[in-house]
Amino acid sequence: TWTTGSIVEEQIAAIRAQVGDKRAICGLSGGVDSAVAAALVQKAIGDQLTCVYVDHGLMRKGETEQVEKDFVAATGVQLKVVDAQDRFLDALKGVSDPEEKRKIIGREFIRVFEQAQAEIIAEAPDETPVEFLVQGTLYPDIVESGGGTGTANIKSHHNVGGLPEDLEFKLVEPLRQLFKDEVRMVGQELGLPEEIVQRQPFPGPGLGIRIVGEVTKDRLDLLREADAIAREELTAAGLDREIWQCPVVLLADVRSVGVQGDGRTYGHPIVLRPVSSEDAMTADWTRMPYEVLARISTRITNEVRDVNRVVLDCTSKPPGTIEWE
Ligand code: XMP
Repeated sequence: TWTTGSIVEEQIAAIRAQVGDKRAICGLSGGVDSAVAAALVQKAIGDQLTCVYVDHGLMRKGETEQVEKDFVAATGVQLKVVDAQDRFLDALKGVSDPEEKRKIIGREFIRVFEQAQAEIIAEAPDETPVEFLVQGTLYPDIVESGGGTGTANIKSHHNVGGLPEDLEFKLVEPLRQLFKDEVRMVGQELGLPEEIVQRQPFPGPGLGIRIVGEVTKDRLDLLREADAIAREELTAAGLDREIWQCPVVLLADVRSVGVQGDGRTYGHPIVLRPVSSEDAMTADWTRMPYEVLARISTRITNEVRDVNRVVLDCTSKPPGTIEWE
């Protein structure tokens, strides 16, 4: 029979068998999936694992610091932080198409991992090769990237359909048969703290797929502000558990007329997309309290430059996906 303990045991044995005495790296995104995958692999192979956190500049406010602090404190894992902001921004220059963005981000992730691999080898050349890349891929990621049985490709998850064809790493994906709630149970079983295990999902490609239009530094800064306000108010209202996640999206290619202060503005809309879900395969838009929506809207239009409208996405999945891109 199926228990969380048995999954952990089974996966640890499988990871040891697969990796042997070789070394592995694991990309940490700050999300639940990569954290649990890393903790599981660390339990299996200890210091043969190095975690790599890629700061691609598409993170939310405070996220990088949180990974550096909380995850390392919780697991004692070896962590390498790579500042790759310019690299990702350059690669995304002029690109608006969602699938193209996803493929570029997936490819750049791998390029950074390859660079990290070379550095790790250079630092300790006598040890065994760094052959494996650990990813927190879940079952739904595979299905929705078109790898499931007969399912059409909905979008390329950055760690599945977004991988480059010349990938040289061997993949270790200990969560690929699990759904999110099961991953959280495994994380709990491994003793990870609540703040990590109960975190709301956040996609690997980050804010890059929450800007409809070209991704620029300016737009990222603006979206980061709006997102931080929404998260702050949702947490203050005690809605973190009820809401599965609430993407905040910048419609960078859309402008509308507004009146702010004593003048006309021509700014961008911010979309709030609160959803309730069990496994992200389907979702319902969350009927959240008007007062909370009002507070978020007032604060965003007052505090974030170039934004003069906040709109609510009241679409379920299907027909809308959770993320806009
Ligand atoms: P969609 O937009 O497909 O999202 O309804 C389903 C869930 O997956 C997350 N998501 C991703 N997570 N890499 C990830 O790690 C990705 O490329 C990716 N795309 C979507 C999304 O936030 C939601 O929880």
